[in-house]
Amino acid sequence: MTRARSSMTSPSSTPEEDFIFPTGGALGAEVRGVDLSLPLSESEVATIRRALLDHFVLLFPGQRITDEELVRFTSYFGRPVEHVRQQRDRPVKEIFFISNVRENGELIGALGNEEVSFHSDLSYLPRPGTLSLLYAVEVPSSGGDTHWCNCSAAYEALGAAAKDELKGLRALHRHYVDSQNPLEPVTHPVVCTHPDSGRRALYVGPHLTKSIVGMPSTDSDALLQRLYDHLSQPRFIWTHSWCLGDLIMWDNRPTMHRRDAFPDTERRVMKRTQVFNDEVPFE
Ligand code: OGA
Ligand code: MN
Repeated sequence: MTRARSSMTSPSSTPEEDFIFPTGGALGAEVRGVDLSLPLSESEVATIRRALLDHFVLLFPGQRITDEELVRFTSYFGRPVEHVRQQRDRPVKEIFFISNVRENGELIGALGNEEVSFHSDLSYLPRPGTLSLLYAVEVPSSGGDTHWCNCSAAYEALGAAAKDELKGLRALHRHYVDSQNPLEPVTHPVVCTHPDSGRRALYVGPHLTKSIVGMPSTDSDALLQRLYDHLSQPRFIWTHSWCLGDLIMWDNRPTMHRRDAFPDTERRVMKRTQVFNDEVPFE
């Protein structure tokens, strides 16, 4: 890892294309030569925000940052919040662990080692999180890849009749751990508009979406399955195999993600932060 600052220090003379490298896949770009252990300037932050709007997922490889530095970087993009789920022994409250590691018989993080199907983070809340960040601290030698889906491209690829059919529909979202759910049922539009770009995206996924509101369950199941089949086409997916020191930041509004299983005999430790705002998803 380079500790020295790169071309990003002077955005006026360094166009975005010098350090933002699109993956060439369905979404995503790699941001090279930026050291997140150092504070960023306003123009650097603006460039990263712009890149996030364009690419939805940004990979910052080769980082070596402390918890405080991870929270500082997160705070450039909104309010980093204590994750809604409780975890024990977290010295920095804004950091949530995603891990299969056990200490004294207790899991130190969430999600274990199993596959996690497509979802948009915290969609079971009335005001879901906007951005999520995941920083790889320990990675397994196989498995545990994360796949992001470009839900904007998937929506835009639908025909006019299919888009029409989705107009005005809402879906019920629920966490599989009952105690995580608010008392009132949470519904969101099936198609949501990004408040900053105005682009629409499909906002349903098999992990947290339960049904289409007001539709008989066989019709609802059939429609959701049809949407999931559409979303999971390889042309809408970008996959990342994690390396130590990778930090990935994504916008949950135009994307969903899922994770592959990995051997429970191996350790995977990811530090996770989350940006909230008060936004209610809208069609
Ligand atoms: C998450 C998540 C996937 C992963 O942190 O929200 O879905 O790869 N993580 O650990
Ligand atoms: Mn997630």
